[in-house]
Amino acid sequence: MKSTKTTLKDDDVDYDSLSPFNKTLFPHTLHLLLPVALLPIAIVLLCLYFYPLPLTQSQPQPHQLHHVTLSPQVKEKHKAYNNSCDYFNGEWIHDKRGPLYNGTTCATIKEGQNCITNGRPNSTYLYWRWKPNQCNLPRFQPNTFLQLSLNKHIAFVGDSLARNQFESLLCMLSSVSKPKPVHHKGSHWWHFPSHNATLSLYWSPFFVQGQERSKSGPNYNTMYLDRVNQRWSKDMDRMDLIVLSFGNWFNVPSIYYENGLVLGCLNCSDLNYTDIGFYVPIRKALRTSLDAIIERRKGKGNNGIGVIVRTFSPSHFDGDWDKAGTCSKTEPYGNGEKKLEGMDGEIRKIEIEEVESAKVKANKFGGIRFELLDVTELSLLRPDGHPGPYMNHFLVANGVSNHVQNDCVHWCLPGPIDTWNEIFLEMMKKWEWEGQPRNED
Ligand SMILES: *[C@@H]1O[C@H](CO)[C@@H](O)[C@H](O)[C@H]1NC(C)=O
Ligand SMILES: *[C@@H]1O[C@H](CO)[C@@H](O)[C@H](O)[C@H]1NC(C)=O
Ligand SMILES: *[C@@H]1O[C@H](CO)[C@@H](O)[C@H](O)[C@H]1NC(C)=O
Ligand SMILES: *[C@@H]1O[C@H](CO)[C@@H](O)[C@H](O)[C@H]1NC(C)=O
Ligand SMILES: *[C@@H]1O[C@H](CO)[C@@H](O)[C@H](O)[C@H]1NC(C)=O
Ligand SMILES: *[C@@H]1O[C@H](CO)[C@@H](O)[C@H](O)[C@H]1NC(C)=O
Repeated sequence: MKSTKTTLKDDDVDYDSLSPFNKTLFPHTLHLLLPVALLPIAIVLLCLYFYPLPLTQSQPQPHQLHHVTLSPQVKEKHKAYNNSCDYFNGEWIHDKRGPLYNGTTCATIKEGQNCITNGRPNSTYLYWRWKPNQCNLPRFQPNTFLQLSLNKHIAFVGDSLARNQFESLLCMLSSVSKPKPVHHKGSHWWHFPSHNATLSLYWSPFFVQGQERSKSGPNYNTMYLDRVNQRWSKDMDRMDLIVLSFGNWFNVPSIYYENGLVLGCLNCSDLNYTDIGFYVPIRKALRTSLDAIIERRKGKGNNGIGVIVRTFSPSHFDGDWDKAGTCSKTEPYGNGEKKLEGMDGEIRKIEIEEVESAKVKANKFGGIRFELLDVTELSLLRPDGHPGPYMNHFLVANGVSNHVQNDCVHWCLPGPIDTWNEIFLEMMKKWEWEGQPRNED
């Protein structure tokens, strides 16, 4: 077992510290993080801008793509991209097919999410698929995703749930094309030479500037709600699509700044500031980020950008995290069995409202497209999809004891989080079909 760093330096992201479940971060982070149920909001801000790239019927070499005219088959394919399904309401149904990858075929799965390899005994949780009420959600097609990512840079920005989704995508794409890690200061880039496509991951759990609480530093977060985090925003001009996701790190004692002054705090009984909770700060941080994208990219014509905000990813602790809270269910919830409420619903609502508001602002300019990847409800129905005790490999040898930590926040890879990327791909197809990114009125 390798040791992990406890702090996150700006110029050197420790890949293992991207998760609040990091072994060293876990104890002091989680006891504050988990009580309210944990906020794995992965706001995926997918800035994806897709030129109407011509598609050929087969899986062509990328460099041919620019020069072919549409064949009848391709027109058929384009028609198939004219999908207006609501992918976010539906149910989980049995599916014999199973995932596109496993811990053997994909080398980049983080240990804590490699559930089967860690000894999870029952793989029935892998044999479900999401069935939207109005249509069928196609299985993930790695080649299509790569084709749509031709010469593009897709950036994931956020917290450890952003990374979780990023790694699901990386595993599925790796099943057809081998990516190469690319050194990039302060973030992780993978390049697919077959399609000159780049996927990147930026650690920025608030989106705005600030400092996460840490063992060696202060015991609270510091956030500057009106200043976007340069770590990712400095590269914005090189991104075609941004997937934003956050939330995990907000439900922790924090001090919030705005206009250089303290705006308030969260659970700061020892400090003389007003406790303003974390909903207002979440909204402000998101708004600051979306505004920054609009400000930077407005009116850039063909050099447009797509932005996807992935809504909050619910966690599933049966009890309190510190009282051996577990996620022991082994099957999805059925229709109507679980209602979206409380913090999960509230954060999702903020995200929806802020994306709507950003759409209106961006409409004036063109060249920027905002969308929601609303995974909250479909994820809420999958209490069986978390690592639980199988976040640690040693369990294989020692068996599950009563006192083991459970991760009921992140998602097993493979697992239901792969569905997020299936829907993501359908969104990309739709954008492709519709041509230039734009906002709908
Ligand atoms: C796209 O699909 C919708 C509904 O499925 C249909 O009404 C519309 O005519 C289609 N548009 C084109 C250009 O095919
Ligand atoms: C992983 O998938 C490969 C290819 O589908 C298969 O041969 C292998 O047995 C699988 N490994 C596990 C541990 O399921
Ligand atoms: C590869 O993609 C990048 C964007 O990610 C683009 O700037 C570059 O021009 C592309 N290279 C080629 C040869 O098309
Ligand atoms: C904040 O404090 C209140 C009351 O002391 C407590 O109920 C709540 O769980 C705390 N929240 C966090 C995130 O620590
Ligand atoms: C807390 O702040 C208020 C108003 O800013 C001030 O009147 C009060 O003296 C402060 N209390 C402490 C203990 O610092
Ligand atoms: C695996 O889990 C499913 C669903 O809960 C259950 O029906 C099945 O009996 C379990 N299989 C084993 C071998 O434990």
